[in-house]
Amino acid sequence: MGQKDTIILGIESSCDDTSAAVLKNNTILSNVIARQEVHEQYGGVVPELASRAHQQNIIPVVDAALKKAGVKKEELDAIAFTRGPGLMGSLIVGTSFAKSFSMALNIPMVDVNHMVAHVLAHFIEEEGKKPPSFPFLCLTVSGGHTQLVLVRGPLDMEVIGSTIDDAAGEAFDKAAKLFGFPYPGGPMIDRHAKTGDPDAFQFAKPRIEGYDFSFSGFKTSVLYSLEKWVKEDPNFVQNNLNDLCASVQRTVIDILFHKLIKAASDLKITEVAVAGGVSANSGLRNRLIEEGNRRGWNVYIPKFEYCTDNAAMIAMTGKFMFEKGLFADLHAAPFARWSIGF
Ligand code: KG4
Ligand code: ZN
Repeated sequence: MGQKDTIILGIESSCDDTSAAVLKNNTILSNVIARQEVHEQYGGVVPELASRAHQQNIIPVVDAALKKAGVKKEELDAIAFTRGPGLMGSLIVGTSFAKSFSMALNIPMVDVNHMVAHVLAHFIEEEGKKPPSFPFLCLTVSGGHTQLVLVRGPLDMEVIGSTIDDAAGEAFDKAAKLFGFPYPGGPMIDRHAKTGDPDAFQFAKPRIEGYDFSFSGFKTSVLYSLEKWVKEDPNFVQNNLNDLCASVQRTVIDILFHKLIKAASDLKITEVAVAGGVSANSGLRNRLIEEGNRRGWNVYIPKFEYCTDNAAMIAMTGKFMFEKGLFADLHAAPFARWSIGF
């Protein structure tokens, strides 16, 4: 007789996506994501509207994930939920749901750190893909975080560098806002950059020590340059949109890779991964492949749907923690801030 299957329900509600996923052993059976379009008109996520939308979405999303997976709730072994970091009102919805569901089903729940989960998305089993070997470096780039993580084991990781101001996703989104794109504008920059010239415009790059990142100088330089150019030509943005997007994208990627290359070389690590919403960026994915070829790295890029916020990565992390008996109890309150660390 083979080993009993482990089936885990993952719940993600840290920001503006409500997601539920079912993981059987290391394979994802379903990963349902309800995106909240309500924020587009405001140019950023409005926390109160996000938590209200999570309230409306959570039950239908979980129901859809179970149905899609063909799994009955009685078959679940555990519920993994995002405890933080994120927006408090959003986290409370997922946390409260996980508590009541686990109590009703009398199964354990596992409290997952969202940033750890972005890294462990690489361990979701997929045909033709192998996970990184330990130790590896992971550049986790999202709308709220930019971290360079040294991963020694699934539950043994250390942030060796992080942003001292804006996150990489924020840098994309803020530049996109100046170009007139709705929130989040990162994917629009990516789309327009494809046919633009990345050398057309130069923007400021930071000079800071170690493995930390900074994007505030870059952001200010995009703002001031645009103000100047638009004064000279009111149609400047429309006339140069693709080149502007390509140049912005190139600068953000240069800033990220400057530190990634330095860390890989200092630590003599050749297993290099990216994770988080910004790792959906096609320029960043191509750059990682290029640098990998040039430097003899083995590179790892998650499947597109596991880059941006999703519950599949929460379930995967939950599985690692479940195996170690790392359970949460009913007192578990969400953490708006929660650093990686075990
Ligand atoms: O990980 P994620 O879904 O949510 C957070 O935890 O923040 O990341 C969202 C961020 C947003 O800033 C969004 O603009 C950015 O990821 N993003 C992209 C792309 N797709 C998503 N940025 C640039 N190019 C993309 N293709
Ligand atoms: Zn995220």
